[in-house]
Amino acid sequence: MTQTRSQWGSRLGFIMAAAGSAVGLGNIWKFPYMTGENGGGAFLVLYMICIVVFGLSLVIAELLIGRMAQKTPVAAFRETAGRGWSVVGGLAILTAFVILSFYIVVAGWTLAYTVFEATGSLSTMNSEALSATFKQLTGNPWQPVGYAGLFMLVCVAVVISGIGSGIERASKLLMPILFVLLVVLVVRAVTLPGAQAGIAFFIVPDFSKVTSDTVVAAIGQAFFSLSLGMGAMVTYGSYLSRERNLPVDALAVVGLDTLIAVLAGFMVLPAMFAAGLEPGDGGAGTTFLVLPAVFEAMPAGSLFGFVFFVLLAVAALTSAISLLEAVVCYLTDEFRIGRVAATVGTAVACLLLAIPSSLSFGPLAKHTLFGQKFFDLLDYVTTWIALPVGGILTALCVGWVLGPRAVTALTNQGRLAAPWAGVWLFVLRFIAPVGIGWILIQGLIK
Ligand code: PFF
Repeated sequence: MTQTRSQWGSRLGFIMAAAGSAVGLGNIWKFPYMTGENGGGAFLVLYMICIVVFGLSLVIAELLIGRMAQKTPVAAFRETAGRGWSVVGGLAILTAFVILSFYIVVAGWTLAYTVFEATGSLSTMNSEALSATFKQLTGNPWQPVGYAGLFMLVCVAVVISGIGSGIERASKLLMPILFVLLVVLVVRAVTLPGAQAGIAFFIVPDFSKVTSDTVVAAIGQAFFSLSLGMGAMVTYGSYLSRERNLPVDALAVVGLDTLIAVLAGFMVLPAMFAAGLEPGDGGAGTTFLVLPAVFEAMPAGSLFGFVFFVLLAVAALTSAISLLEAVVCYLTDEFRIGRVAATVGTAVACLLLAIPSSLSFGPLAKHTLFGQKFFDLLDYVTTWIALPVGGILTALCVGWVLGPRAVTALTNQGRLAAPWAGVWLFVLRFIAPVGIGWILIQGLIK
């Protein structure tokens, strides 16, 4: 019996789901603090350049491979480019699985903080107390694993219901909510006394602050934020009908992802300046260590703090769903495992892998592998090695192996005019491999 493959029910549904994958902790947690640490406006400009130069081309390439084959990344690379290329799909699925395992740990913390804000337990805390709270939560052997499990349960509930009634429906509901919450917080942040300095820091570039590390950070961030190199976009592309105007849809997804990152910058940086903090204060801990204090200094702070952590959890959810779906789609397509079994099995395995990641902030903090904590090791290997390798191979595959065939498929067998298709191919053939190759080398040196 051949089953017909699921497809997105509507153009809007696909765009919301793909934008949901792209918009995540990367935009709201990571982008503002990276901008803060890397000199503000100059980082913003570099980030935008990376999005336009590599990001958009690779999003189109990944969605296109999926759409051409209408299959999971492994089969998609195999069928479009040849047997050997299936390794690229396999690497992407493995990376998705590993990233999901530590993404849910951080997502679990956002759930915990939602509860803290709801119960008002952060409201009277100074910065030492906040830092102790964070350490207590992340260092606890059970609690964060429990929150990660709870978060995973919600992902499972969505993915088990499939493409149309699960992922598409959830994304169409959650993405507008996310947008509204974010706008509320931006309005609050930019109207705080003293916020102007934060706005200026964010949008006025000072290129004297740019170093090669800034450029590497901007490319890496663009890549992670657009969900590239993990099979998510290939998988979501595989549910697209061949009739759609893919470049236009991809542009919408990339545009939404960038818009949300910029709005997150307008939320976090002005609020930090208004609270008298330096933009680089807190680093990766900004969200959990610094922002609760910033909220508490505002009128109705606990309410805004609560809204913020709900926003973060929603953003993380739609991204985690796409990572889970990439693995589930692989298992159902390649091994004919039922969706329910594939989803539950993947979730359980992923949660098991999340345990040592979570424990590496507590009982396992002193145990290192290759000189790093387990969480950091997984983060390093995926973000700095697996993703760039996957990105380079995807660009080379679509640019050189598929080449003109990809252009024909992209233009719906020549029915759409794509005057810039030549530019797209040029980027995939030359610019993307060199640019991403450079991050790979920098990552290995690190
Ligand atoms: N793009 C997501 C974020 O910015 O948080 C992270 C992510 C989700 C990466 C899904 C990759 C992916 F397949």
